[in-house]
Amino acid sequence: MKPRFLRPPRFPVLLIAHRGIPSRYPENTLISLEAGAGEGADVVEFDVQPTRDSALVVIHDETLERTTNGRGRVRDHSLEEILRLDAGGWYAPEFRRLRVPTFDEALDAVGSKAVLNLELKQYGPEEPRFADRVYEAVASRGLTETVLYSSFHFNLLRRIREIDPEAPVAALFHFARGRRPVEEAIALGARFLGCHHRLVTASRMQDSRKAGILVCPYTVNTRRRAETLVDLGVAALITNDLSVMKEYLTERFAAR
Ligand code: G3P
Ligand code: CA
Repeated sequence: MKPRFLRPPRFPVLLIAHRGIPSRYPENTLISLEAGAGEGADVVEFDVQPTRDSALVVIHDETLERTTNGRGRVRDHSLEEILRLDAGGWYAPEFRRLRVPTFDEALDAVGSKAVLNLELKQYGPEEPRFADRVYEAVASRGLTETVLYSSFHFNLLRRIREIDPEAPVAALFHFARGRRPVEEAIALGARFLGCHHRLVTASRMQDSRKAGILVCPYTVNTRRRAETLVDLGVAALITNDLSVMKEYLTERFAAR
């Protein structure tokens, strides 16, 4: 079953390092992603989006303000402009001058160290060949077996599945109002359902189990919340705080 793990997961619940380890490093920077891979995450999650000149960069928000010293929308800037920005000083002075990684740099840095959960971010109009270019970068490095694609924009996931019908995809949901997450994931052919942790309910877990869909809630940062979600039967914990979750899962599963 894809993704194929580089080493067997330590716990029955997968540990997914969300944007690396943002509890200790500026999110989505190479140092944060490398720490996630180096400190025992089964999967490292990060966000990919296109620049004005259609390069791919690793950054979460639609705009630059929160995580860099730039201003305005990512997609209104060229790669060269984005690479000039400081993506670490906002977090702490010692991280000043860290750059926004290119997608290629992130794949090269952590692609051989952990399964990657690549979230394709689409904030504006659909970028031509976005999913194609993400897939090509993954395939050219021989990483297709160890990558999981996720998105709130299911067209991008459909395109990934057109290119590679075996590619594992996670349908993402932040809200459930007016939506039917499990049914929509089934319709998409997604094996994974990524959702805000508040959307995990006993009845959705039951429906997911019946459909063979693995539920991966984000972001789970406290032991108490993790405990409830593991009791409900989630397949993974997507966390900003890898050490807290590692400690919790070690205790929980060592005690069985
Ligand atoms: O993959 C789950 C999560 O990363 C989706 O939400 O906003 O943190 O990218 P967000
Ligand atoms: Ca994300």
